[in-house]
Amino acid sequence: MEIKSSIKKSGFSPYAVNGFVIRNPLTTNNAGNCTWGYAEKYGRQFFIKQFLNPKFPKPDADMYESTRARMVEQCEKWYSAHSRVYKAILECGGSNIVNPLDFFNYENTYYLVTEKISSCGVSFMDIYKRSDEQKQVILKILAYEISRLAEKNVIHSDLKPDNLILKETVDGFFTVKIIDFDASFLENEPPEPDDLTGDQVYFSPEMILYMNEEEVTVTPKSDVFALGVLFHIILCGKLPGCGEVYDCLGHAVLNGDKPQISGDIDKGLREIIGDMLCADPEKRPDAFEVFRRLGGKTPETSVRSTVKTSSEKSDLRVTQSGLVINMKKSNGDK
Ligand SMILES: Nc1ncnc2c1ncn2[C@@H]1O[C@H](COP(=O)(O)OP(=O)(O)OP(=O)(O)O)[C@@H](O)[C@H]1O
Ligand SMILES: [Mg+2]
Repeated sequence: MEIKSSIKKSGFSPYAVNGFVIRNPLTTNNAGNCTWGYAEKYGRQFFIKQFLNPKFPKPDADMYESTRARMVEQCEKWYSAHSRVYKAILECGGSNIVNPLDFFNYENTYYLVTEKISSCGVSFMDIYKRSDEQKQVILKILAYEISRLAEKNVIHSDLKPDNLILKETVDGFFTVKIIDFDASFLENEPPEPDDLTGDQVYFSPEMILYMNEEEVTVTPKSDVFALGVLFHIILCGKLPGCGEVYDCLGHAVLNGDKPQISGDIDKGLREIIGDMLCADPEKRPDAFEVFRRLGGKTPETSVRSTVKTSSEKSDLRVTQSGLVINMKKSNGDK
């Protein structure tokens, strides 16, 4: 009955992809290369993302065999590179990383399924108004989770406020969840320079050089640079200054200019941010060093015990695509 009346009103029919039932049209809101929405399976709600590209050629598509073979090869290469990244992310076991749960090709389109996260409605640009304790928690979680990714040689490569969801915890605090690993790559499998994507405000100097086809290696320290920009926003609500002649901070520091770090930020934290924004990745601290300098002790006793999160790992089951789906029923996603 409910389904029939919704079809009548909107002309939309619920459908299923790989057993995930989509009851409302996917949207392109705030999206780049995808449409997204929610889907149900096993009585649980998930986040689902449909990639607009690449498209697997349909069996009846009118095309030369050579074109089909090339498209299939590109799709398979894209799928296997993403699968390797997603598997490495799963192995990190970070509780504030929104894990890929299923990744599959349905008909001629690729889909990714993750846990659904409800945002607490606080804007990332307003965190600076919160208590020092709250800000410290967010800084530590980010540094720690990026250090977990670095251990597996994963470079997120698109860290920015849009890819961080603030989520309320049971004790009135909020925590941060890292999403959108679609631009991510493994250190030893970098994309072609033309295929690197992201937001230039957060681009590390080495990413800029790599995109310009210079001989550089982009390592997990690249994420530390983006994190330095995010730390500045978290602590004072603004981007670090880079002078008017530059279009982004990465360019400024490559030219030897110092980032302008706000005097509103406490001296100790200003020094940490300054080091994170160092042009030379060799001199930049890694994410675990940042975590330690923030006062993070052992991960298990600091981050894990101060923040109550929901994504505990249990009852994991391997799906067709080889990724893992958490079958444990949760009380909503809080
Ligand atoms: N797990 C999730 N739960 C709820 N909402 C999510 C989740 N992951 C992403 N979103 C929301 O979906 C939208 C698109 O997310 P996402 O960042 O993954 O895609 P995108 O930036 O378009 O990625 P791409 O670079 O692949 O095009 C954003 O508004 C984001 O807040
Ligand atoms: Mg995104």
